[in-house]
Order: sequence, then structure tokens, then C-alpha cells
Amino acid sequence: MATKIYVVYYSMYGHVAKLAEEIQKGAASVEGVEVKLWQVPETLPEGVLGKMGAPPKSDVPIIEPNALQEADGILFGFPTRFGMMAAQFKAFIDATGGLWRSQALAGKPAGIFYSTGSQGGGQETTPLTAITQLAHHGMIFVPIGYTFGVGMFEMENIKGGSPYGAGTYAGDGSRNPSQLELEQAFHQGKYFATITNRFKASS
Ligand SMILES: Cc1cc2nc3c(=O)[nH]c(=O)nc-3n(C[C@H](O)[C@H](O)[C@H](O)COP(=O)(O)O)c2cc1C
Repeated sequence: MATKIYVVYYSMYGHVAKLAEEIQKGAASVEGVEVKLWQVPETLPEGVLGKMGAPPKSDVPIIEPNALQEADGILFGFPTRFGMMAAQFKAFIDATGGLWRSQALAGKPAGIFYSTGSQGGGQETTPLTAITQLAHHGMIFVPIGYTFGVGMFEMENIKGGSPYGAGTYAGDGSRNPSQLELEQAFHQGKYFATITNRFKASS
């Protein structure tokens, strides 16, 4: 049976969504792996989203908390808000109390990816503070470390991401993920899928 990986994200302006697509491609490049993209539900009213200049949502399906237990490994993605995950994603995690009670996600590998507006705005605090959610669920955090290689040491151009996972900078919203950031996202998907595959085979 194929190893099932879910890429679950929230994206208001599309930056996290672009990373998610690359992560999906990277994970799908590993033999025996099946990947599915999911969005978490929006919590803000249309009127507020309009004032924030948010574009319409994509047609990526909306996940229900219980669906998480179907996956062998899960990659979680979110933009930062004040250095931590956006409330929309936190609200989704807060709806997983039933899964927490039964520890249905315990022992499953989990990865994190993210977007911030600025440098110093949360490229490390956003994933680091999200690890508490994984710990309470008993999930196994799979960071990318420095497995991305020389790309981790880029100094000429601005590059998001860290040992915690792939990342990008949205800037004022007009910046798109760079080629290197997309390659890092692809790498995370592939690396995570390889680890999840190994876990599944040994359990
Ligand atoms: C209320 C609010 C708080 C934010 N806080 C931060 C922040 O602390 N640090 C930062 O770098 N960017 C911050 N941003 C910018 C978002 O992180 C940025 O819009 C996001 O990374 C874009 O990702 P998306 O296109 O997937 O929505 C904030 C944006 C909003 C609306």
C-alpha cells in the first residue's frame, strides 16, 4: 500500500500555497508515495478578507480534523502572524482535541513550512513555536536540518527557510518565492517522504 502524505496548509495571499505545491511535487517524486494537498478552513468573514486584500481561495479541498489520521506523515504549512502560526491554522489544530485524546497522530512524522513578510519576522520562531502542537500530539518532528546542502548557506540573495523547514518571504506581498526557495520546498517534500516511507516500512 502506498505511503500517504498529507500537505495541510493555510495561505491568505498564496505564498504558502506555492511552497505547498512544490512540496507536493517533491514528495510525489519518491516511489510508493501518494500525496494530497489540503487547506484548513478560513475563520475570517468575507468582509474582513476583502479589507485585507485577500484573493479568492483556491479549489484545494478543505480538510476536516479527523482526516489527519488517514495520513502516514503530515506536512503543515502556514504564514506567520506576529512570529507564530496564523490563527486560522491554530484554530484548526485546536479542533483536533479528539485526535489528541486518543493520540491518533502519535508516532506519525510531521514537518513544517512557512512564510513571513520580513527578515527577522519569524522564519525560525514560527516553526519553533509550532513544535509544541506536534509534541502534544506525540508526532515526530522531521526538520530538514542542513540536508538541502549549499542552498542553506546562500548569502548573495534573500532566501527563506531554515533547518526547521522550507520558507519564503512575502515582503509587501508582491514578492514571489525565489527559485532557490522553491527548490528547498521540493527538497523538503522529497526528504520528508523518504523518511516517512522508511518509518512505514519499519512499523
Ligand atoms: C496580522 C498580520 C500579522 C503579521 N505578522 C507578521 C510577522 O510577525 N512577521 C512577518 O514577517 N510577517 C508578518 N505578517 C506577514 C505575513 O506573514 C505574510 O503576509 C505571509 O507570510 C504571506 O503568506 P501567504 O501568502 O501564504 O498568506 C503578518 C501579516 C498579518 C496580516
